[in-house]
Amino acid sequence: LTLAPQIAAAQDFPAQPITIVVPFAAGGPTDTVTRLVAQAMSQDLGQQVVVENVGGAGGTLGAARVAQAEANGYTLLLHHIGMATTATLYRELPYNAIEDFEHVGLVTEVPMVMVGRPDLEANSMEEVVAYVRENGEDVMYANAGIGAASHLCGLLFMDAVDTQMTTIPYQGTGPALTDLMGGQVDLMCDQTTNTTNQIRDGSIKGFAVTVPERLDALPDIATAAESGLDGFEVTIWHGVYAPKGTPEDVVARLSQSLQVALQDETVIERFADLGTAPSSQEDATPEALKAKLEAEINLWRPIIEAAGVYAN
Ligand code: MLT
Repeated sequence: LTLAPQIAAAQDFPAQPITIVVPFAAGGPTDTVTRLVAQAMSQDLGQQVVVENVGGAGGTLGAARVAQAEANGYTLLLHHIGMATTATLYRELPYNAIEDFEHVGLVTEVPMVMVGRPDLEANSMEEVVAYVRENGEDVMYANAGIGAASHLCGLLFMDAVDTQMTTIPYQGTGPALTDLMGGQVDLMCDQTTNTTNQIRDGSIKGFAVTVPERLDALPDIATAAESGLDGFEVTIWHGVYAPKGTPEDVVARLSQSLQVALQDETVIERFADLGTAPSSQEDATPEALKAKLEAEINLWRPIIEAAGVYAN
């Protein structure tokens, strides 16, 4: 009898608009992915799916907001690899990525690309490496705070070239990209979902992608390995989360809707144009996201500990 209200809630779900929190600024890569998916989920669910940007502290403020939200399926989080890296980068975090969330499913896996201001005196990744080695901490590297994908990629790059740059943190790579285009910062390693169009139209320079094969969306951009940076590889997986305690059948309905959204023609086409693709139907499930998150926390922990970089 006590379960009756919960079952009724799940059958009626969703009875009101759903909010997906993006833990970075509007106009950036997480925002772009989320708005495309939210639009397709909204069609499937018959309710508005609204995107709310809660940027700051490398994505941890937005994640904390959702961890503390009511567990009814109406407040969700779409976050990326930072859910795994922040588990080590932040010694104090107001939530646990495994324990304090229900895991809805994986969304996509996005390559990164090293990009530079349009007048940077480098035209290839080899020249970027030489420029960074020569100018060291005079090079302004933009990122979206400790725990961002752009932060992680910057760490891997600085390790690969054995040189430190000066980091300029933003609430997301959306605003960082504006400054890169304007020449206020020099370099950024960002997701192709935020940089492909700007590389194509020449408003920024693109140097190397962080995946083993060149991308159809950016065929002229070399891979890092082709540019002499073997092992400088990373892709940015994204997942949808709900607060812990969200009823199981509500999570199942959300996961099913995510699967429908990831088969939507517009989503597939827009993702392809931006150098990525939707996750498979099997990956857009609670089990797959939880397994990925656990594996990635374990993968990045020793790397971050060895680097000794902590936010707090
Ligand atoms: C964003 O949406 O701004 C990001 O995903 C930034 C990042 O993680 O680098």
